[in-house]
Amino acid sequence: MSRLYLLIEPWIYMCMAITHIPATIRVLVVAKDYGTLFSPSGFREALFGTFWATIGPQLKAINEERVVALLEGRIKDGHIHDKVVSASIHGTVLEVGAGSGMWADVLARCSGGVDAAGSLRSRKNASSGISKIYGVEPNPISAKALQKRVNEVGLQDVYQVVPVGIEYVDDPTAWNGKIEPGSIDCIVGILCMCSIPEPEKNIQLLYKLLKPGGHWFVYEHVKISHGGPLMRFYQWFCNIPWSFLMGSCSLCRETGETLRATGVWQEIDLAPPDQTGHEIIPHIIGTLKK
Ligand SMILES: C[S@@+](CC[C@H](N)C(=O)[O-])C[C@H]1O[C@@H](n2cnc3c(N)ncnc32)[C@H](O)[C@@H]1O
Repeated sequence: MSRLYLLIEPWIYMCMAITHIPATIRVLVVAKDYGTLFSPSGFREALFGTFWATIGPQLKAINEERVVALLEGRIKDGHIHDKVVSASIHGTVLEVGAGSGMWADVLARCSGGVDAAGSLRSRKNASSGISKIYGVEPNPISAKALQKRVNEVGLQDVYQVVPVGIEYVDDPTAWNGKIEPGSIDCIVGILCMCSIPEPEKNIQLLYKLLKPGGHWFVYEHVKISHGGPLMRFYQWFCNIPWSFLMGSCSLCRETGETLRATGVWQEIDLAPPDQTGHEIIPHIIGTLKK
């Protein structure tokens, strides 16, 4: 990608979001949801939902190779390998901010486990693999779409939609269940830590849910750590209109640092995926082992 494109990338997404304003208003008027229409925070979330329905599949197509490699244990130091080089997704899984189920088909493909050569096992014959998935998604429209997607990909016997924010997953009064501390083998966070409230507090909560030896699979966009102060200022400046147009998403989250600092990890492998160093929306990818 050209340097100019990387520089204006946030503005391209924001212009796309603006073009979704009329459709968002139309949907809310048709639904007679005037409360959301006239609530700045409600409208912001509804706009992001409409926008994500367009941009989500495009981002999935761009990022699928990386995310599949991550979940299959084929990422090390930000690079994709042909063979398994770290843990692959298994056991009881918590997918944070699952959205409308963009990654449900990938989870279904990985659910039988991965052998040492990096080949996926069929779920029917698998002795390892995924036994349960909690998909945490507070947006009611997305949670409904998530359930539909789970059924479409045939994961309904394994995947439970948890229709609350992660801050409530251990609260049985908030939803029909409770996730116990130390009960999760793998946490999956794909482009979601930028959107959750109180990241330090909620990442700490998620850390407590992980079993000792459990893995956190990370693919997130983060605050710029490369370049000089001008680049950091420019990202901060872009984040001002971004925060009005992109739901609760922030461009300037230090998710990598927050994850590292949240507790004791046996292993940390977090690095930028192959990037040019000129990104205003830089990413990190990898795993942490508790
Ligand atoms: C950028 S979207 C990514 C969705 C999905 N991971 C994907 O890649 O398509 C961020 C998601 O985080 C969700 N989210 C916002 N606040 C949250 C919270 N408190 N707990 C869990 N998820 C949250 C949003 O509703 C949204 O679906």
